[in-house]
Amino acid sequence: MTPIENDFLPINGTDYIELYVGNSKQAAHYYKTAFGFQDLAYAGLETGLKDRESYVLVQDKIRLVLTSPLKSGTEVGQHIDKHGDGVKVVALWVDDARKSYDETIKRGAKSFLEPVVEKDENGQVVKAGIYTYGETVHLFIERKDYNGTFLPGFKKWESAYHPSPIGLKYVDHMVGNVGWGEMNTWVDFYGKVLGFSQLVSFDDKDISTEYTALMSKVMSNGNGRIKFPINEPAEGKKKSQVEEYLDFYEGAGVQHIAVATDNIVETVTALRNRGVDFLRVPETYYDGLLDRVGEIEEDLAPLKELGILVDRDDEGYLLQIFTKPVEPRPTMFFEIIERKGARSFGKGNFKALFEAIEREQEIRGTL
Ligand code: FE2
Repeated sequence: MTPIENDFLPINGTDYIELYVGNSKQAAHYYKTAFGFQDLAYAGLETGLKDRESYVLVQDKIRLVLTSPLKSGTEVGQHIDKHGDGVKVVALWVDDARKSYDETIKRGAKSFLEPVVEKDENGQVVKAGIYTYGETVHLFIERKDYNGTFLPGFKKWESAYHPSPIGLKYVDHMVGNVGWGEMNTWVDFYGKVLGFSQLVSFDDKDISTEYTALMSKVMSNGNGRIKFPINEPAEGKKKSQVEEYLDFYEGAGVQHIAVATDNIVETVTALRNRGVDFLRVPETYYDGLLDRVGEIEEDLAPLKELGILVDRDDEGYLLQIFTKPVEPRPTMFFEIIERKGARSFGKGNFKALFEAIEREQEIRGTL
């Protein structure tokens, strides 16, 4: 890892994730109802915007911004027409947005937004942005001189509907799917342009089933708070899930958002009761599980009942589960993860998981 004192792009964490969606009002209701997010802020006609509307939701350290167009022909609408609902912005919380922009542009980043200062009665925020894979962008958000609800231009939003939170705490990692042969291009981008280091890599021998394969490398920033695995499809007998994503998203984009919980059994029970669908591995996955991963603190029965997966590395173990895609196209989904010391990504579960995805692809006719 880059020593922290040499880090030209210090990042405090994920500031927010903005999804462009067909109906922000209804999407906000879904993320509140199903995922336990809370009202935070709003921008739209009532705040003077003419072309878009955004709802901002929060749960512990996670902020989601859901944005829809208010008329035809907008950048937001064109993005949705091409990609369907999906992640447009992965915003990074920094202490110096201008420096973050200058350092990354100097190293070859393509500009999305030159540094701008936005102000209201609560102070000021500096924003700047660069492109990453596909049409996805990173915004650098400097908010040390701001104490408003979210960002200037947004007003506090509070409705009468407050479903309870389900224990989601922070963004653990966000995975990008990129095109054939492009993984190393984007690994180099995060390495050279953002100063990230490679944590691990998986090749098609690690991540393959009888039918499909993919390759993945995990990039992390200096303090480890930002982790971006990058996937590309690999040659197999049939169409891999990454290829299916690229076909339906019509390009590279965010494949999944992994969110952390301290109690995965409670979190997943709540999600399931609220109608979220998960990928299921066969019951046989649990045969001999404890021989494979060793002692764990959790009872096996609820893990098996809910379909939660377990994997171990040198530092501990982790529990994880994946939702089905959360929009009509088989593109973006969520991972729920609880770490018990492990800092890895569940390599031991890849095969069972990909076979579960292939069964879904078979049903969709896209394998
Ligand atoms: Fe993941």
